[in-house]
Amino acid sequence: MKKIFALETSCDDTAAAIVDQSGRVLGEASFSKLEEYNIFGGVVPEIGSRAHIEHILPVTKEVFRMASLTPGDIDAIAATFAPGLVGPLLVGAQFAKGMAQALNIPLVAIHHIEGHILAGHQDENFPQAPFLALIVSGGHTALYGCDENYLITTMGETLDDAAGEAFDKIGRALSLGYPAGPIIDALAKTGNKEKYSLPIAMRKEEHFNFSFSGLKTKALEIIKKHAPFNEHDRADFCASTQEAIALALCEKSIKAAVEKKYQALVIGGGVAANSRLRELLTIACQNAGIHLYLPKKQYCTDNAVMIAKAAHLRFAEHPNSNHLFADVLATLPIEGIEEYRRSAGSLFIDLFGGDAERI
Ligand code: KG4
Ligand code: ZN
Repeated sequence: MKKIFALETSCDDTAAAIVDQSGRVLGEASFSKLEEYNIFGGVVPEIGSRAHIEHILPVTKEVFRMASLTPGDIDAIAATFAPGLVGPLLVGAQFAKGMAQALNIPLVAIHHIEGHILAGHQDENFPQAPFLALIVSGGHTALYGCDENYLITTMGETLDDAAGEAFDKIGRALSLGYPAGPIIDALAKTGNKEKYSLPIAMRKEEHFNFSFSGLKTKALEIIKKHAPFNEHDRADFCASTQEAIALALCEKSIKAAVEKKYQALVIGGGVAANSRLRELLTIACQNAGIHLYLPKKQYCTDNAVMIAKAAHLRFAEHPNSNHLFADVLATLPIEGIEEYRRSAGSLFIDLFGGDAERI
């Protein structure tokens, strides 16, 4: 596929991009509902769905304008079909289906996590598979193995809160606004990370799972006890919290890479933009002789470039893909994506007939 137009609408952002087969970004644009969410302190699915409907067309037009292309110049469409909030997902998937049908070009359904893992694919520094991937966001915190055929399996995941969720909930208790991760990151810069002691769960355990609820509960207790913080103490508290979360993520990733003999680590998801996590991983990977790929910060948080990049790779593997009959799913383990794509729309084909070859 020469040029892919992609949409990402699984959560906060209405994002669109056009990427060519060499990985060059020809156009990208996104609209974020974060200001609207700020009033409520978090994601509100109904507001999200309505805002996606309002913004999907302007964002699409902007991307074509930036790329100096028309829809007729596009060779395929891609969209996030799972996992995520069903309303927002539906807006992107239905828009993509309409475009694909109107233009008579194929559509590929992408899993949000494969997008995050492949956000840097074809960048100079992006490793050849196999590699280990740490994906950390507001909804996910997990380690994935990506094999030489780019098949992805979960190696460990959070048993309770995601790391981004912990940042956001702690930030909310400090009245920092949403999302709190980047604000805590900024405040931590002048703080003393040793001032408050926060627990890191399951440090010595064999498995590669994470847990952040104990850390979050302890942090909320400290806030209750000391509130209101003066500016100095707040910076120390942010630095201490960030240090504990970043250390938990870094230690498990290095342990998994060493034990499973991965020579490269890729990170992604909003929390991968965290400056202390990037610093700790850079040092630890250098010491362990592991190649580390740090995506640009703009491609850590949700974006459509990552969906286009994943789609290029999937089209290269299955050139006849077309998932026009796929349904969006709120949950879908990454291991299920190949089967999901294979069987997408079988009910529709049974009912109405169809060109099974193209599905
Ligand atoms: O990947 P993403 O944009 O959306 C999800 O799929 O969840 O990640 C958003 C999450 C939020 O929890 C936000 O607080 C966190 O990423 N985040 C950060 C930073 N930038 C975004 N957390 C810590 N430090 C940052 N610099
Ligand atoms: Zn995400």
